[in-house]
Amino acid sequence: MLKPEINALLTQTGRGTPMGELFRQYWIPALLAEELPEPGSPPVRVKLLSERMIAFRDDDGNYGLVDEFCAHRGVSMWFGKNEGNGLRCAYHGWKYDVTGQCIDVPSEPPESTFCEKVKLTGYPLVKVGDLLWTYMGEPAQRPPLPEWEFATVPAEQTFSSKRWQESNWLQALEGGIDSSHVSWLHSGGLKHDPLFKGAKGNQYNMNDLRPFFEVVDADGGLFIGARRKAEEGHYYWRITPWVMPAFTMVPPRGDHPVHGHYWVPIDDENCWVFTFDYHPVRPLSADEVQAMKDGHGVHNEYVPGTFRPLQNKDNDYLMDREAQKRGETFSGVKGIAMQDASLQESMGPVVDRSKERLVSTDTGIIKARHRLRRAAEDLRDHGTTPPGVDPAHHRVRSVAIVLPQDEPFQEAAGDDLTVRPGVPQTSV
Ligand code: FES
Ligand SMILES: [Fe+2]
Repeated sequence: MLKPEINALLTQTGRGTPMGELFRQYWIPALLAEELPEPGSPPVRVKLLSERMIAFRDDDGNYGLVDEFCAHRGVSMWFGKNEGNGLRCAYHGWKYDVTGQCIDVPSEPPESTFCEKVKLTGYPLVKVGDLLWTYMGEPAQRPPLPEWEFATVPAEQTFSSKRWQESNWLQALEGGIDSSHVSWLHSGGLKHDPLFKGAKGNQYNMNDLRPFFEVVDADGGLFIGARRKAEEGHYYWRITPWVMPAFTMVPPRGDHPVHGHYWVPIDDENCWVFTFDYHPVRPLSADEVQAMKDGHGVHNEYVPGTFRPLQNKDNDYLMDREAQKRGETFSGVKGIAMQDASLQESMGPVVDRSKERLVSTDTGIIKARHRLRRAAEDLRDHGTTPPGVDPAHHRVRSVAIVLPQDEPFQEAAGDDLTVRPGVPQTSV
């Protein structure tokens, strides 16, 4: 249970709010790289942390992320013409470069220096892996680029997608660190999904519906361990890293690619769910990539031409009561991603956490909220750099492992929780 003012602190990310300033300490995913495929690509609307912006690439291939609205009289630069070294407003032709600097006001005399004084807010936009990342904070505090393993392995070993979720970012993130729901909501997926099925660990998941949670602090956030019964004298552990503010990784299953998410606020009632799948040591197979493109695993299908899921709240997520009755799906909604999204959106855009009743399986969520609140307040009150800014904190892995009952997971699986180039993920 959270007091309403703490719920507001954790869920509001506009400029000037404590959590908004926290998010502005990090490189966060802004777009898929494929949205700006080549120099001179058409501009794209982007809203992040309640700021409306335009992303574009000039003819030299430089990326820019600038205020959506022209400094002259405020029309959307989305209508602009991408031309040479900048984007030209469609109304009266003012032109801006990728930093937002105005470089031409064609109605002014040639000798005028007026445009030098005009600049749109602009943020860096950098390709790392399949994603374009931005940093929306003070330029002087800009940290080194992200080093997540999914974004730094060779291109043939990784795949990313994104979807729009109609809820606040925090309830989406909380789904990512709540692995107790897997045995219920996703029970059908463990049996049938091409990117999940066949792993030995799935049996442990289904045979013990009362996981015990053990959560330990990590430099960048938390390791959330969910323990289930295994063979005599052993436990099956699924360990989920959460790195502040919004990165989570699902524990692996067998040799399937490992998946995870970056939950990015669009505004206080919507978020982008950036979803990745990668294998640390081998290329993804053609079948795996096709399954991801088809919306299996933690990916989804789309309303054509958009990032809105095909199953959405306007069509009741294509609820199938017969499949629910037959036990094919637990909730009647198809697909792991949309099973999560449908329930999280059903809570309302910002769930009222003063009314919830938490239990022991919510330990990870409780600790994550506490760490977020503390980091936001330490930043606000003392200017403390939060956990997860240092790229060393990005080099984490999720783990699925069977351990003797008397071994604490953080000691027994210590190395497995760290990126080791050339070494496969630890998985059952
Ligand atoms: S509104 Fe953009 S040039 Fe006039
Ligand atoms: Fe889920």
